[in-house]
Amino acid sequence: MNQSFTWRCPSNIALVKYWGKKNGQIPCNASVSMTLQNAFSEVSLELAEKKTSGIELQYFFDNEENRSFGQRVLDFVERNATHFPVVNQHALIFHSTNSFPHSTGIASSASAFGAIALSLLTASGENNPDFFRRASFLSRLGSGSACRSMYGGYALWGAVPEHPASNDAYAIPVANVHENFSSILDAILIVDRSPKKVSSSRGHAMMAGHPYATTRFDQANRHCDRMLQVLATGDWEEFIRIIEQEALALHAMMMTSGEAYLLMKPGTIHAIEKIRNFRKDTGISVCFTLDAGPNVHVLYPSADEVRVHAFLTKELGDSIEGIIYDKTGKGPEQIL
Ligand code: DP6
Repeated sequence: MNQSFTWRCPSNIALVKYWGKKNGQIPCNASVSMTLQNAFSEVSLELAEKKTSGIELQYFFDNEENRSFGQRVLDFVERNATHFPVVNQHALIFHSTNSFPHSTGIASSASAFGAIALSLLTASGENNPDFFRRASFLSRLGSGSACRSMYGGYALWGAVPEHPASNDAYAIPVANVHENFSSILDAILIVDRSPKKVSSSRGHAMMAGHPYATTRFDQANRHCDRMLQVLATGDWEEFIRIIEQEALALHAMMMTSGEAYLLMKPGTIHAIEKIRNFRKDTGISVCFTLDAGPNVHVLYPSADEVRVHAFLTKELGDSIEGIIYDKTGKGPEQIL
């Protein structure tokens, strides 16, 4: 029987956004994310007998071959073959699934490339103490945000002068987290399931020559330093201020880029206004962030779960296509 290596890797939600990159998947600014628990990809890498001298790779998603993603994975494997000796010794057959529904617009490249890098490393016999740092470094080369999925809790990717261990090549875990943030909840409001009109890759590219690029990169770097202090001190008020400003700044970059495009939908604005009003009326620390899409991540303390769920169902249930409940996650897991 062929040997196989399986990893489950979670997705993550950026609190401070990565938007804009240089050659070699180097981010234009630092970012901070929270690892999720329920939204994950599971990838099984099966090692089969090689028939040719080149790299042989097949990629199946939900048991169906996905040639376009397979090509992206092949490019990644070819570029990084020196890190994964296994790719020259065996044919690679990947089988992948996501825990979240396919058509939700939830980014799967972070969790997928995370799990791919982890399975390739394990199949290559790596198990040194730096394992997750190596996986972070390598998954970044597949998808930037993947590098932040390698740790439980929160991760920092990108060089921030105030934090000497931080760097552009891989993410590091955020060590100092106040109990207020050690386990918080994230309800993902599915506002619109249709595929995005502008991909994240195009969006990153449009930051080159963007009129506000320098100001934006400075803002994000300052926010990362500030966010690390906030996570350490448990300051919900400042957490809310930063993440909402980050979400809107990300979308402001899209609206003011060369193509001047808009990924928010009326339902996105409606949800944002409802969330802000609910916070004002109740004093509950509930806030929102956005990915590069119309869906809204609602973040709130576990202690307020019942009230926030009642609010989401009653006030927003009719205007959205669904809710996925998630929370701060524990990081990747090998399935033996
Ligand atoms: C808006 O990591 O998907 O989610 O490096 O091209 O794969 P690539 O981009 P990707 O970009 C994520 C953008 C974002 C913000 C973030 O996760 O920080």
